[in-house]
Amino acid sequence: MQIKKAVIPVAGFGTRFLPITKALPKTMLPIVDKPAIHYLVEEAVNSGIAEIIIITGQDKKPLEDYFNRSKALENHLINTGKLDLLEMIKKISSMAEIHFVTQEEVLGLGHAIYCARRFMNKDEAFAVLLGDDVVVSIEPCISQLIKVFNNYQASIIGVQNVPNSEVSKYGIVSGHNVTDRLVKVGDLVEKPDEESAPSNLAILGRYIIHSEIFDILRALRPGAGGEIQLTDALKELNKTQEVYSYIFQGTRYDTGNKLGHLKATIDLALQDETIGHDFKNYLIKMTSHSR
Ligand code: UTP
Repeated sequence: MQIKKAVIPVAGFGTRFLPITKALPKTMLPIVDKPAIHYLVEEAVNSGIAEIIIITGQDKKPLEDYFNRSKALENHLINTGKLDLLEMIKKISSMAEIHFVTQEEVLGLGHAIYCARRFMNKDEAFAVLLGDDVVVSIEPCISQLIKVFNNYQASIIGVQNVPNSEVSKYGIVSGHNVTDRLVKVGDLVEKPDEESAPSNLAILGRYIIHSEIFDILRALRPGAGGEIQLTDALKELNKTQEVYSYIFQGTRYDTGNKLGHLKATIDLALQDETIGHDFKNYLIKMTSHSR
């Protein structure tokens, strides 16, 4: 089995980012000059994925506009001789084969993934990248997971250690170490209390999942928060086949909240070739004034 498809669910209401998310999908918020979804699609493409299924809410138009070609803009850039910009925007439309699927009701992440079922074959595994989680790393995060999948041919969950005080925000896995970075999953629990959490290995928005998950999701009852939880479905999958979690390398930003989004913006702006140097000087000046 080879991983050729990715699902990117972005249909959540984005309540932590209101009011802007009333009118604009959270994943279209810019991190420097590209929307968050661009970084996710780029990560998938740089990991060898050719087909991407984006699960949207009712507000998918800005996403479609971003990935579709704009003849008028292209003509304008040709006529004004801005050929480097022309190249850049044409590349966005040709990065991958992108399908949009509307999640009619926001019933939870598990339900959002279920909406991608018609794109998957019976014996197939696919990548999942959550819209909120932007990972900056030398090797793309999902490529790290694909490598592990290629060795084990089993579902792989991307995790990192988080402070004990934060376990209640995440799905948490526990199990036994196969290597320093690979844990064979024993148990999974969605948003446990600090006291009852089985570990501090948190699921951070990257998965390789076997398509058998769809049969489980079809029958799954709502879990934490009254939502159909992907973590609950993975817990079920773990009863019938091996599931592993992999501690990936890289910095992960939760761009679904204001602070995480600002951190990603600052870090990526500092790395930007055109503004990084000036922005750094500005930050130094700002921070020395505020002392
Ligand atoms: P979150 O719960 O973090 O996103 O879901 P949210 O619901 O948009 O955020 P808040 O809490 O209201 O601010 C994780 C990911 O799963 C997607 C979200 O878009 C996000 O990328 N999701 C969640 C769906 O696509 N559909 C759902 O029904 C729920």
